Amino acid sequence: MYKHNNQGGQALSTALSPAQQAIQDEVDALKHTPGAMLPILHAIQDRFGYIPDEAVPIIAETLRHTRAEVHGIISFYHHFRTRPAGRHVVQICRAEACQAVGGRQLEQHAKSALGVDYHGTTLDRQFTLEPVYCLGNCACGPSIRVGDEIHGRVDPARFDALVDDLSATVVEVK
Ligand code: FES
Repeated sequence: MYKHNNQGGQALSTALSPAQQAIQDEVDALKHTPGAMLPILHAIQDRFGYIPDEAVPIIAETLRHTRAEVHGIISFYHHFRTRPAGRHVVQICRAEACQAVGGRQLEQHAKSALGVDYHGTTLDRQFTLEPVYCLGNCACGPSIRVGDEIHGRVDPARFDALVDDLSATVVEVK
């Protein structure tokens, strides 16, 4: 529960919040893995759904990197989020096979229907829109993934129907 820093010959103890402790646990579990930075970032995002700000100094200190280096890696990989995602993460395939059969129109429609750009989250925090590069469903494009489910041959009307279904599910849960 406590982090011990040794500065100027004096041992300093700083209480870690539960979230910081959970981050430290993930970092400690993987810090000896070769190229530990990426596995650690994946583990933290899997656990929290995003990379909390307080992860940066913990990772930097443990792996002996600068905070700027950790920030640089997080921002280089679009997979990593620095804010919590919406309730549903909608990923639209931007790879060639899907783009050739209407993927471009679909992504424009999705952005305007949800009112967000890629990596954005709707104001009601129900949907986060993300690009993805091939979902392995190339013969049935345009493809999207919502959570763990892949949907093929998604045109704007089908997209709207999916969003309506997901929104209705949210209402039922309340
Ligand atoms: S190109 Fe879209 S699923 Fe492969």
